[in-house]
Amino acid sequence: MLTAQVKEFGGPEVLVPVEVPDPVPGPAEVLIEVSHTDTIFVETQIRAGWGGEYFTVRPPYVPGGGVAGTVRALGPGADAEWLGRRVAAFVDGSYAERALAATDALTAVPDGLDPLTAAALVHDGVTAVGLVERTAVTAGDRVLILGASGGMGALLVQLARARGARVVAAARGARKLELVRRLGADEAVDVTAPEWPERARAALGGAADVVLDGVGGSLGTAALPLTAPGGRFSAHGAPTGGFADLDRAEAARHGITLYGIADAQYPAGEVARLRSLAFAEAAAGRLAPVVGEVVPLDEAARAHRLIEGRGVVGKVVLAARR
Ligand SMILES: NC(=O)c1ccc[n+]([C@@H]2O[C@H](COP(=O)([O-])OP(=O)(O)OC[C@H]3O[C@@H](n4cnc5c(N)ncnc54)[C@H](OP(=O)(O)O)[C@@H]3O)[C@@H](O)[C@H]2O)c1
Repeated sequence: MLTAQVKEFGGPEVLVPVEVPDPVPGPAEVLIEVSHTDTIFVETQIRAGWGGEYFTVRPPYVPGGGVAGTVRALGPGADAEWLGRRVAAFVDGSYAERALAATDALTAVPDGLDPLTAAALVHDGVTAVGLVERTAVTAGDRVLILGASGGMGALLVQLARARGARVVAAARGARKLELVRRLGADEAVDVTAPEWPERARAALGGAADVVLDGVGGSLGTAALPLTAPGGRFSAHGAPTGGFADLDRAEAARHGITLYGIADAQYPAGEVARLRSLAFAEAAAGRLAPVVGEVVPLDEAARAHRLIEGRGVVGKVVLAARR
């Protein structure tokens, strides 16, 4: 089968197509014929060699962790009811035509949800539903979303609005601002304007009850003073190269609850619940991931160039079949 492998840490060119034997499912595992593979920003950072203190993976390796596809074979003891079903799962190395997953890691893809959409939700849906739950977004909350046009940010805008919050979406450039408005943001603020924090404050009507920071760095750090006393701040994003540098004492003085990346990691049972919720919302037409580009698996390096180029409006998803 075809895989895309990172041969060494470096630029997108280190991601190359490699043929390998099909994997064989072990006990209680299934073989998934991959339809589409999710990509997320952090995969480009790991490929470049960033985050060695958090990520143990070393080249050569098959990147990626989420797929949607169809179960084509069962390992010993795997429940036969999965055979032929459409599923999504976290897997170890998803830039591949086939992947293995334990049966208890599978999420059924409901009728009416296509595999491209399921793949686009496999990670982002879990994290986004988990974040609005964790920060307890409720009707009337003023919610500031940084990185609102990103794969997960686009879901957060829709989920927060669906909970009745007033959403101020921070994004970069006219096309991405237009997207977040279309997704339902009450106000959109361009972070390329140096005075964006003041504009966000005005759009929020004073301060945010909840900040969902998917970008980190100085942008994320600048959002702490925009948080209302007693508010919640989730610093789960680091596409800028680092998480927001938050003054914990200052946050505590204002009664602000801080959440970090560790709060956005879930045990398997929770992943299944959150993903099923995201799938159900999408199947019902209430939640739509934004896919900007679908790239064939053998052009995975181009997919990484597109992600890093930050020009695509929406997510980049890999299509496994040639
Ligand atoms: N996806 C998940 O399930 C998940 C789980 C846990 C944590 N996270 C974290 O959440 C963040 C967003 O993830 P994602 O998967 O949604 O990624 P994504 O779709 O690539 O979105 C990244 C967002 O960050 C912005 N961005 C990228 N580079 C930037 C830079 N140098 N400076 C400022 N903004 C930048 C992008 O907007 P512009 O390029 O237009 O500025 C975009 O809005 C990532 O840090 C990721 O590690 C994601």
